[in-house]
Amino acid sequence: MVLGEGLLDDLAELMASYCPASRYAIVTDSTVAPLYGKSAAAALEKVAPTLLLQFPAGEWNKTRETWATLTDQLLAAQLDREAAILAVGGGVVGDLAGFVAATYLRGIRYVQVPTTLLAMIDSAIGGKTGVDTQLGKNLVGAFHQPRAVIADVRTLTSLPPLQLAAGMAEALKHGAIADAAYFESLIAGEQAIRAREPQALLDAVRRSVEIKVGVVAEDERERGRRAVLNFGHTIAHALEATQGYELLHGEAVAVGMLAEAKLGERIGVTEEGLAKTLAGALESYGLPLSPPVDPDLERMLDVMRQDKKNREGTVRFALPSRMGEMARGPGGEWTVSAPENVVSDVLRELSDS
Ligand SMILES: NC(=O)c1ccc[n+]([C@@H]2O[C@H](COP(=O)([O-])OP(=O)(O)OC[C@H]3O[C@@H](n4cnc5c(N)ncnc54)[C@H](O)[C@@H]3O)[C@@H](O)[C@H]2O)c1
Ligand SMILES: [Zn+2]
Repeated sequence: MVLGEGLLDDLAELMASYCPASRYAIVTDSTVAPLYGKSAAAALEKVAPTLLLQFPAGEWNKTRETWATLTDQLLAAQLDREAAILAVGGGVVGDLAGFVAATYLRGIRYVQVPTTLLAMIDSAIGGKTGVDTQLGKNLVGAFHQPRAVIADVRTLTSLPPLQLAAGMAEALKHGAIADAAYFESLIAGEQAIRAREPQALLDAVRRSVEIKVGVVAEDERERGRRAVLNFGHTIAHALEATQGYELLHGEAVAVGMLAEAKLGERIGVTEEGLAKTLAGALESYGLPLSPPVDPDLERMLDVMRQDKKNREGTVRFALPSRMGEMARGPGGEWTVSAPENVVSDVLRELSDS
């Protein structure tokens, strides 16, 4: 990953060295196009002919239909295998553009230029690409590694506060699962991060990326370790599945982490007090501690039962044992099971808090 402040000013040089190509196609959305897409296209024109493609911003456009439209536009422009795609935008752009790159002419090179905090520390890392379907998010896709990830924290200055907070939920998760000192530094650095101070953003993005990359790499030796990235996500996914787009993913993760931490304390896996520390940190970043509307408990439980390979009457969770460390199951696995009645209790308390 190339990480810096003001990197987009040098985009042409960076692309020439990390991903030289005969032609470039920038894929972006309608919000990011006027902010960074157009100037990126103008800069790239200096090194190779550049096409600028955009689709309407929003998760609901991360579909096969948008994938088809973008692909048809590339075909009409006769882009060949020597060309490369640049995904300039948040995770929606990255996932879609990556999936286009994975499939166009059976796969061409691409570069991620993430412009949201979430994309910088999460979606641009790991090579997962894809689209949503009626039956759920990210159900159709491919693994396709980008040639480079170019993250310019200056782009975060235009990010709406709620979107910054949503990214911070994942950053706090990284601290909680792997590095207590990092978690502490995010609490201490809250004002600087909210003020978009470049050094504070650079430090957070760098450490979060290290943690995500480290976990994903370890997963190859120690199968299943990747599951620790799911802390907060079992409940978050169930909330998202039952409350549609009422809340941003990061908001759902905030609520999910707090609920799962409480669950961990309840079943004696998580150190007492962790949930309280977590709640304080989430709140300081303006993240919700409970869902905006009362959750449908039965439906949430249904989703969770299907979500993972669960055994009878239990649901599995990735839970911290203490800040920065994850609990292991009896066989060394990275998830632990919780009885459904305790899960129900915790879910019920979500609406009371
Ligand atoms: N591939 C993976 O491993 C992975 C991991 C986590 C999440 N995801 C996916 O990422 C997506 C969420 O990503 P996201 O939170 O970045 O959402 P997003 O791409 O929808 O961006 C959020 C909003 O911010 C706008 N925006 C982007 N950059 C901006 C900027 N610099 N200034 C102002 N506005 C800006 C966008 O136009 C959009 O309206 C989801 O689809 C999720 O499934 C993928
Ligand atoms: Zn997530």
